[in-house]
Amino acid sequence: MSILIKNGRIITSAEDYVADIYIDGEQVTTIGKNLDHQADETIDATGLMIFPGGIDPHVHLDMPFMGTYSSDNYETGTLAALHGGTTMVIDFVLQTQGKSLHHALEAWQSRSNGNCYGDYSFHMAVTDFNTDTQKEINQLVDDEGITSFKTFMAYKGALMIDDRQMVGLMQEVKKCGGMVTVHATNGDMIDYLVSKHRAEGNLSPLYHYLSQPEITEAEATGRFADMAHYTGVTGYVVHMTCEGALNHIRDIAKRNQKIYAETCIQYLILDATLYENDFEGARWVMSPPLRRKKDQETLWAGINQGSVQVVATDHCPFMWEQKKMGEKDFSKIPNGHPAIEHRMELLFTEGVQKGKITLNKFVEVTSSNAAKIFGMFPRKGCIAVGSDADIILFDPVEEHSISASHHHMNVDYSAYEGWKLKGKCKTTILRGQVAVDKGEVRITKGYGQFIKRSKVPDNI
Ligand code: URP
Ligand code: ZN
Ligand code: ZN
Repeated sequence: MSILIKNGRIITSAEDYVADIYIDGEQVTTIGKNLDHQADETIDATGLMIFPGGIDPHVHLDMPFMGTYSSDNYETGTLAALHGGTTMVIDFVLQTQGKSLHHALEAWQSRSNGNCYGDYSFHMAVTDFNTDTQKEINQLVDDEGITSFKTFMAYKGALMIDDRQMVGLMQEVKKCGGMVTVHATNGDMIDYLVSKHRAEGNLSPLYHYLSQPEITEAEATGRFADMAHYTGVTGYVVHMTCEGALNHIRDIAKRNQKIYAETCIQYLILDATLYENDFEGARWVMSPPLRRKKDQETLWAGINQGSVQVVATDHCPFMWEQKKMGEKDFSKIPNGHPAIEHRMELLFTEGVQKGKITLNKFVEVTSSNAAKIFGMFPRKGCIAVGSDADIILFDPVEEHSISASHHHMNVDYSAYEGWKLKGKCKTTILRGQVAVDKGEVRITKGYGQFIKRSKVPDNI
């Protein structure tokens, strides 16, 4: 299969120019002006922007969590992602405490293998670090190409590890050439606040927000950074939401340390006033919770200053019936919201169109930086000769709106119902195949491949 894309405006993290792209098989083989290659399919991209396929390094598909499963599985989730221009996702395997990492990996493989439309990889979440777990780290890095190890400093009694385990894991991961990523909030303090609010009969979604004040995230981010500094491991903070946390990341530059930071689209454009509407606020019950306007401003600034490198989603959808598990008690509302489909279009509308970020920055934070940080660059995250032909054709002026009535995610509400978008992903190409074209799906389930990732380079 070969494809010739004519006259598109190619935008990468560093370039912006008009040219033709020739794709032969799964890769880009030629980029140039006025190419006259014969191709099985020729696409006229006049007036369209061409971006590298989006990479969302933080999603939870078909995940057992809080007594239920996230409602998008690998089929529906990766297909919805392709509709919105995301060609690859990185999902999380969760170790069960008392069991091995490989035991969990097999469970996740049994749900994902052969079911994905888009490409995918896994982070391994270590919830029980001990001498047995320790022996598995190297195998995961070398044999499975799983090079990032997720930790939770919260979800006490379920996923949380203590600092003793954290330091031990960091030392082992460093030795094996991997990276430690973190959900950085103070689990003990949150646990205390949740109990206090429940005991006082404060049970609405607002109290989810009030149980996780900014300081819980700031403190844990600083503590994680200190442990990473001591052990020398490369660190990455997932779903950063607030000024206090980012300031810790800014401060460690003074001791020549770097920790990568990811925020998510919702923390840039939604705020905590949404929790004021009684149980409706459950739509946005996620951890950490939405914050304040001043935090949004800090995160946009962090993106432009280069201290926040990635905009992900933390896509973790639940049907409204599932959210209602917490109708009488906020602590039972499954945490997470749906966004995998609209990350790129929302960021384009709210970031590029509103002059908050440049087009090159848009590509950096939606694709290239994730590919670099997570060991896939230049195979993924760029448009270059020899790279995978993961390419999206994007109309920067088309206007449309978000609604649960026509989105592709398997969830019966939208966290962005009625939001107006300017900019639409028209065609998504994945490894040389037109995957979705103007809403029509042209690949079949199982086309998506598991992508093995490289060890963490010294300098990214
Ligand atoms: O609320 C969230 N974020 N749900 C998914 C699990 C996590 O903490 O990332
Ligand atoms: Zn988390
Ligand atoms: Zn998450």
